[in-house]
Amino acid sequence: MESSRANTILEHYRKQAEIHGADASSTMADEITRGREIAGVQRLIDFLVERGAPATSLLDVGCGNGYLLSVLREQFPQMKMNGLEYTPEMVAIARERGVPECPIAHGDVRALPFEDGSWDIAVTERCIINILDRAEQEKALAEVARVLQPGGHFLCIEAFTDGLSQLNAAQAELGVKENVQPYHNMWFDKEWFLETIAPFFEVVDVAAENDPSLPPPNFLSSHYFMSRVVYPNVTKREILYNTHFVKFFSFLPPMGNYAPIQLYLLRRR
Ligand SMILES: C[S@@+](CC[C@H](N)C(=O)[O-])C[C@H]1O[C@@H](n2cnc3c(N)ncnc32)[C@H](O)[C@@H]1O
Repeated sequence: MESSRANTILEHYRKQAEIHGADASSTMADEITRGREIAGVQRLIDFLVERGAPATSLLDVGCGNGYLLSVLREQFPQMKMNGLEYTPEMVAIARERGVPECPIAHGDVRALPFEDGSWDIAVTERCIINILDRAEQEKALAEVARVLQPGGHFLCIEAFTDGLSQLNAAQAELGVKENVQPYHNMWFDKEWFLETIAPFFEVVDVAAENDPSLPPPNFLSSHYFMSRVVYPNVTKREILYNTHFVKFFSFLPPMGNYAPIQLYLLRRR
């Protein structure tokens, strides 16, 4: 990464490490979003196991303070698991957490220190959007593909500009201040993403399963609509996370395309 961009990222996550330590709130203040990301990953791994897909090893790329890994380790005690993380302060916290049988490598998603085809499942939770250059993001997606075995899966949670555009349109309609991309991110353009991954991955259409427990790509859409459009309009206040108002509506199924953060289940060709 060009060094000033790299410093922007390292500085941002160093601060997150300082402020949040090993907490679940690290890198995500919105508890519902964080909880749904984790529940989505857990459910999709279960789904792969149910389907008999390869699921004996998992690599969490950009594992931060290791919170997600700690949850997954409890659910899947037998699985081979590794984390990989770029920010040294996060690596230290993730190692101190001591997730059993789960080494944490210090490294970069663009040059993963693993053999071709060595993992069954890879997960990113808002990781590759921290690379502030499209060509470098392409390199990262190709690297994740390289270390997965054919038939393996990539649970890809990243942020997309189409969700942001829809969200902003709804916010403008109700006179609510628009959301913007954070300074330390470059969110994916959907067309670019689908074209870039096409040589390596097919998109698994989880909606076709007709199982409401499976998270579709727009899994956070209704939550974003309630928390980022309706709540600030009704209260005439700035967006506040974790309110009773928003939690009350968390029973809503995902509708529309109002959340930048989306979850794709991708099968390695
Ligand atoms: C949103 S956090 C991940 C949260 C984590 N899953 C957890 O349980 O807390 C994204 C992480 O990606 C890391 N990251 C940023 N650029 C990276 C890169 N080029 N390679 C690997 N990790 C990177 C950041 O340091 C950050 O810790």
